[in-house]
Amino acid sequence: MKITVIGSGYVGLVSGICFAKLGHEIVCVDKDESKITKLNSGAIPIFEPGLKELLSEVVAAKKISFTTNLKEALNGSITAFIAVGTPQDEDGSADLSYVLAAAKEIAELSDSYKLIVTKSTVPAGTGAKVKKLVKETNPQFDFAVASNPEFLREGAAIEDFMTPDRIVVGVEDKKSEQIFAEIYAKFPSEKLIVTDIITAELIKYASNSFLATKIAFINEMADLCEATGGNIKELSHSMGLDLRIGDKFLNPGPGFGGSCFPKDILAILNFAKEADVNLSLIYSVVSSNDKRKDQMVEKVSAILDGEVANKKIALFGLAFKANTDDIRYSPAITIAKKLAQKGGKIIAHDYEAIENSKRELAEFKNIEFCEDVYEAAKDADIIVIATEWKEYQKLDLSKIKTRKIADLRNLFDAKKMKDLGFEYHYVGGKE
Ligand code: UGA
Repeated sequence: MKITVIGSGYVGLVSGICFAKLGHEIVCVDKDESKITKLNSGAIPIFEPGLKELLSEVVAAKKISFTTNLKEALNGSITAFIAVGTPQDEDGSADLSYVLAAAKEIAELSDSYKLIVTKSTVPAGTGAKVKKLVKETNPQFDFAVASNPEFLREGAAIEDFMTPDRIVVGVEDKKSEQIFAEIYAKFPSEKLIVTDIITAELIKYASNSFLATKIAFINEMADLCEATGGNIKELSHSMGLDLRIGDKFLNPGPGFGGSCFPKDILAILNFAKEADVNLSLIYSVVSSNDKRKDQMVEKVSAILDGEVANKKIALFGLAFKANTDDIRYSPAITIAKKLAQKGGKIIAHDYEAIENSKRELAEFKNIEFCEDVYEAAKDADIIVIATEWKEYQKLDLSKIKTRKIADLRNLFDAKKMKDLGFEYHYVGGKE
């Protein structure tokens, strides 16, 4: 099936390339000419493990092309996925201007039936807004709208797309349902969950809010363990064995970050408020997560006996999580800024996110960057692990002379670290 994907950002690119891998003919459209030129030369403007290789594969199979010309891209396709950005407005609500602009252009430029699908994360009710706008723009146009939210994790996006737990589609008629069945024909049919548009939109926000809640919950349990002497690893593991709870997203840490959870929970609060619904639990999650970064800074400060100024702090990790160069709402970045404000001398390391961090942290003269992890740790008063790169677990610890470690991702076995002579602090305790 020929499919048009509008917006070649993270969601659009991963979806487009993966649809092509499923055998569809994909045309990805973006207004940014330099991005399209880059993609046409085989380069990927984002960091996502395996995506460049998959792009080469689908380009060689002639299953994908990139253009700035939307009219051409729409020609002959039945489905147009809108995967443009939904940045945050000042009040926390999602800015739908790009989504609506794309829908309007589809209405203006299409000369045959289209199923217009929102893939971008959009508040409940957006499908209806898109429908109204398209109808007003081109009353003769034969179209339907639908919602197909994505559940891709950065760093594991291809795996998430290719082996989904479920594929959610919100439709308004049988024809749309059949189109989706064809698009996702390579997956077991029971994976395809068909619902109405508003429920599909809500499922996305509810899922992200629930996962964020789970993280905030386990972080508070870590605090409780730390205060009472409980073992957070064993607590988390045992809780997770209960299938009603599940073992995923129970790793305590410096709080959740990234471009999704922080933004999406503010957006759901916003549109719930408009609907006169008070999501009091989600408000608590926001404040619990906001406080988290300060708590981590206090933890580091306490390990340094309250003397952060002029202490050399090796910060391991800048990305909001491992396997990405993304630093949006990264707890590591907030912690770096706060420690720098207290006068600490930060030497920051990351496997992918240094370039992005240099821009974000440019104003801090006491934050330096180091590509070599052992060099970053040299002569440090403390090592603070802020991102869960697996590579840190494989370090040759005999090369590290610093004794104090604040592991904000609980990457190591506390007892072993103590035996190796480290003063090892982790989220939920100390050895
Ligand atoms: C998240 C969801 O997991 C995806 O399903 C969803 O599609 C995506 O948002 C989105 O809405 O586009 P992502 O933001 O890429 O994906 O990252 P996650 O792996 O969910 O991690 C989010 C944050 O939670 C990170 O800062 C991570 O370090 C933190 N986290 C995660 C924890 O602190 N503990 C955990 O146990 C898990």
